[in-house]
Amino acid sequence: MNTKQLTKAELEEAAQILRRGGLVGIPTETVYGLGANGLNPEAVEHIFQAKGRPQDNPLILHIPTVAWLERYCQEIPSTAYELAQAFWPGPLTMILKRKDCVPDVVTAGMETVGMRCPSHPLCRQLLELADVPVAAPSGNLSGRPSPTTAADMWEDMDGKIDAILEGGSCSVGVESTIIDLTCTPPRLLRPGGITLEQLQEVLGEVAVDAAVTRQLQGEEKPKAPGMKYRHYAPKAPVIVVTGKPEETAAYILEHSTKQEGILCFEEYEHLFPENQVRSIGSSGDKNQQARRIFQALRAFDHTDVTQIWAQCPDTSGIGLAIANRLKKAAGFHVIDLTY
Ligand code: TXA
Ligand code: MG
Repeated sequence: MNTKQLTKAELEEAAQILRRGGLVGIPTETVYGLGANGLNPEAVEHIFQAKGRPQDNPLILHIPTVAWLERYCQEIPSTAYELAQAFWPGPLTMILKRKDCVPDVVTAGMETVGMRCPSHPLCRQLLELADVPVAAPSGNLSGRPSPTTAADMWEDMDGKIDAILEGGSCSVGVESTIIDLTCTPPRLLRPGGITLEQLQEVLGEVAVDAAVTRQLQGEEKPKAPGMKYRHYAPKAPVIVVTGKPEETAAYILEHSTKQEGILCFEEYEHLFPENQVRSIGSSGDKNQQARRIFQALRAFDHTDVTQIWAQCPDTSGIGLAIANRLKKAAGFHVIDLTY
């Protein structure tokens, strides 16, 4: 298949491709998504094929306004509208009870569906033009770091999908926060662009799913099926080191060899003149770290490093999402220097 590059001026064509059952790489404020008409089961099947995604991993539906919630969800709690008021359009996905019109292939047979109203201007226009809910996982090949530029999308999806819509670099850089509103208290299933602290301001108590912070054991199952897979991972194995930045930098300096890659805060780049080094930005600027984390992980795939050492921010604010992605990329191989 010849994948077509579409620009802002060709939005109508992107909308047509979606309406007639094709696949389009779409920019969002979090990461690029791989979109299809969420009411067309055959089109949604193709998403799974293009990504190599396990069939038991449900997709989220993207909608242009909160008013569309009632088309696809039932028994919607008032908290959904409170969250929408505070954070939509924006990087928040709500898990709600679905209506029967949502195809099984979207929800992987579950009784719930993830709903998201993105804020990226082009994406919003596209959703309005397409006039269908768009099912879209992150646009990476299954298991790889998520795409945060159109170039990343091309790397993973060239020849596999109908088109990629150019929409610049993603302004958030990590995926949406997923909150399950079908349980009490509401449960954070995946940390993302909206922080736990922000959710608590609206909801009060929020439970945090174990899969957010640690490897699940034996029979334990995460509530977001996707959280069980090794994910976001570059080809080389990753070791995450947590603790004060100056201490983690010193630890990595002491334990790494020249053949190993270093993912670090920019203040420490100079310590590793002989290594492949990728900076995720200043240790004090977590928004910048979020924007750069996936690009940095992807960049090591163009090198021959044997292993990657990664510094990790603390888990306050969007640090929880960055730390989650890093630890998942490492298969939870973490050296914790905090005591
Ligand atoms: O920011 C984002 O959310 C991006 C952009 C493209 O919108 N999308 C995204 O989709 O990250 P994906 O498929 O890569 O991740 C969605 C996660 C998966 O872990 C999936 O298991 C979980 O959401 N999920 C989807 N529907 C669910 C449901 N009904 N109940 C629990 N978890 C669900
Ligand atoms: Mg994904």
